[in-house]
Amino acid sequence: MNHRDLPRVLVAGGTGYIGGGVLEVLQQQGFWVRALCRAPHRLREPSRCGDIFEGHATRPETLKGLCQGIDVVFSSLGTRSFSRKPTIWEVDYQGNLNLLEAAKREGVKHFIFVSVVRGSEMARLSPIAEAREKVAQAVKESGMDYTIFAPTGFFNDMAEFFFAAQKRGAIRLFGEGLGRINPLSALDFGEEVARTILASKWRNAVREVGGCETFTHRQIAELAFQALDKEPHIYSLSPWVISLGATLLRPFNYNAYALFKFFEFIARTPDVTGEVLGWRRLEDFFANLAQGMSLVEAEQALCPSPNSNQPQDSTTLETVLSWQALKLSVEIGCV
Ligand SMILES: NC(=O)c1ccc[n+]([C@@H]2O[C@H](COP(=O)([O-])OP(=O)(O)OC[C@H]3O[C@@H](n4cnc5c(N)ncnc54)[C@H](OP(=O)(O)O)[C@@H]3O)[C@@H](O)[C@H]2O)c1
Repeated sequence: MNHRDLPRVLVAGGTGYIGGGVLEVLQQQGFWVRALCRAPHRLREPSRCGDIFEGHATRPETLKGLCQGIDVVFSSLGTRSFSRKPTIWEVDYQGNLNLLEAAKREGVKHFIFVSVVRGSEMARLSPIAEAREKVAQAVKESGMDYTIFAPTGFFNDMAEFFFAAQKRGAIRLFGEGLGRINPLSALDFGEEVARTILASKWRNAVREVGGCETFTHRQIAELAFQALDKEPHIYSLSPWVISLGATLLRPFNYNAYALFKFFEFIARTPDVTGEVLGWRRLEDFFANLAQGMSLVEAEQALCPSPNSNQPQDSTTLETVLSWQALKLSVEIGCV
């Protein structure tokens, strides 16, 4: 399929793990993609972007023309850093609101935003979820079609277990580690984003999503040690200790406080699973990391599914055709 037949997509967050996976899949499937980034060299394959827009989501004056000619915006932009500045309110909240304003101003039809699993519940405890849920609400009220994804943890988060086992020989779980999670690969997620862009049934919906296998956090820790062929040393960190740590950090480092509150939520919540997507397996991902691959390589080396490069089913194909019909009617003035 030629990219001229498909919606034109802006990806924000494409230098990161989730957005990078989405960008890669959209490029493979023939979409014309513009990537918003501060540092283009951080993109996986800059040469495959239709266009690279250098700008700072947190500085709206750098975003003029960002969404010109764009049909769909995808944003996973957000900070996951322990650095004090910029804060999650400047990046996750205001940065994404700036993108939303640019999209509204420039006539984008569909806005896809990544929030977090159990977002409204988590927002009562964790400022990260609060910031992202406020953006999700603004997206819903924007007048554009929207899809809010509320994913559980991705493979890059699970890799933290692996690296702790590898570097320190020990993993500290948040709580007893009995909470359930079905971790998601960014490429599986990217394939779902591609389907969502084409299929109207996922318009104006909030979807809690996860991967194809469910584990407890403790089982994931065990899997990491198995991949490394090491004796497991797994300890628990009580939610009270995490909560105390958050309180002590708050006056000095708001981002660290916000991350601790996120960990506390995970420690206290028995189930953060979402609707099952995809087929890529965490065990294979860990095995690739154990061979010394980077996060991106470890994911790319998971074998492609037989039909992952094509629109997935007849519903999607029909949607592509109706998208083309709609574009044609607009061009000849019927709509
Ligand atoms: N990973 C997960 O398990 C998970 C699960 C659920 C929800 N989420 C949400 O999804 C978001 C993205 O996750 P990720 O794993 O893809 O994170 P990531 O790998 O750290 O990527 C973050 C993206 O945001 C951009 N960004 C960060 N700070 C910025 C700033 N000050 N100005 C402009 N752009 C900035 C980064 O661009 P640069 O390269 O320019 O820094 C990068 O493209 C998270 O913040 C989180 O709230 C993540």
